Amino acid sequence: QLKLAVIGGGSSYTPELIDGLIRYYDEFPVAELYLVDIEAGEEKLRIVGELARRMIEKSGKPIRLHVTLDRREAIRDADFVSTQIRVGGLDARSRDEKIPLAHGLIGQETTGAGGFAKALRTIPVILEICREMEELAPNAFLINFTNPAGLVTEAVSKYSKIRSVGLCNLPINTKMQIAELYGVPEWELFIEMVGINHLNWTTRVAIDGRDLTSDFLSKLAGFKGVSMANIPDLEWDAEFIDSVGALPCSYHRYYYMRDEMLLEMEERLRETGKTRADDVKEVEAELFELYKKPELVSKPPQLEKRGGAYYSEAAVQLMKSIYNDVGDIQVVNVRNGGIISCLPDDVAIEVNCVIKSDGPHPIALSKQLPPHIRGLLQIVKAYEELTVEAAVHGDYKAALQALTLHPLVGDVPRAKDVLSDILEKNADYLPQF
Ligand code: NAD
Ligand code: G6P
Ligand code: MN
Repeated sequence: QLKLAVIGGGSSYTPELIDGLIRYYDEFPVAELYLVDIEAGEEKLRIVGELARRMIEKSGKPIRLHVTLDRREAIRDADFVSTQIRVGGLDARSRDEKIPLAHGLIGQETTGAGGFAKALRTIPVILEICREMEELAPNAFLINFTNPAGLVTEAVSKYSKIRSVGLCNLPINTKMQIAELYGVPEWELFIEMVGINHLNWTTRVAIDGRDLTSDFLSKLAGFKGVSMANIPDLEWDAEFIDSVGALPCSYHRYYYMRDEMLLEMEERLRETGKTRADDVKEVEAELFELYKKPELVSKPPQLEKRGGAYYSEAAVQLMKSIYNDVGDIQVVNVRNGGIISCLPDDVAIEVNCVIKSDGPHPIALSKQLPPHIRGLLQIVKAYEELTVEAAVHGDYKAALQALTLHPLVGDVPRAKDVLSDILEKNADYLPQF
């Protein structure tokens, strides 16, 4: 009797997940599905729960749905626990984006000082969920979608016994978009992705064993590469891309075109008073109005305005391959264990993995990382290691070092100022400090 618990069940992404569970029911037959949330999310959980019930009913699949605020009940004896929570809600995200901007820094949900603040709020809650899993479902897999997904995966792997996999929708979007560029079905395309969450490079593209990496990179001239709904599509510098020999991910724009991205964010905030969190609030309001309609029995296309497109595809593919011991290749966040040799063994990385019943096994890289990739990766990973320590132990010194090291901060006085602002404005969510 396959049991799945979805923590943060009130998320607007849940119908997407239900859609995937229905589509792949024959290969991943979830018998007991728990959607669980906290009191503050009760209203959203109820609306999403009713839509999920209608979707399941229409599908005719024998999935028993439980909508509850009782997390222990949801976790007990689960085979898979997935987390999609936002500690502090969109108001906290809006602060994560606005606080750095007030200090002249990039204000982004997962990258730089904003992602750092989100990590401090989120990691303690996820570790609490892990404690409950250790007690109630010690053999379950934690499928973590909660951002910052790489940092959360690393904290779980360092500080809990639970088997966990970090999941981002960017790799699957990358693969789909490259397959479309070449006009081939996805299963014919092989891509190698190397790096950490929201900072990974596509280092190899092949179809039918034929290496197309340089052809692919030459096609990028005047092409914006892979795009994500939540990130402005500034064009890559063809000469630079060619010199690196790999496709950066959308989030690299915050590093490689920092000034332009910052200017765009500052102007937008000045003119409209808005950041991405404010857009998302509007999209979410629109989505929940739709979800309430009794005639709606499927996920609406409006969901694609969110950055998390195809999340369900990634999540269900992953759980399905673990459940069936498939051994296919998927890009997920796992413990390094020597795969990226210039990083410590115990950190989280995002790379191609073979997915078996005991979880993902990262596979050896096809080529050595060039100095350019290695350098940025090592710096941002060191920032992440320090951030995990800060989040778990409330370690101010680690926090200050982390922010100072981050390429999007990189200055002690500024790191101190932005850190004190973050700690003050998030005090309600930072019991560890
Ligand atoms: P959301 O604001 O809808 O929150 C989801 C649910 O989490 C809400 O119903 C809320 O009540 C609940 N929640 C809040 N605090 C909680 C807590 N302390 N404990 C348990 N539940 C809590 O968020 P969303 O837009 O659905 O995003 C959810 C998460 O997924 C975020 O962390 C977001 O960054 C992440 N996300 C990840 C990816 C990825 O690629 N990995 C893509 C999109 C979104
Ligand atoms: C991207 C990322 C996610 C990120 C999300 C933001 O796809 O992979 O990790 O959180 O989009 O989307 P939003 O619509 O919330 O801005
Ligand atoms: Mn992501």
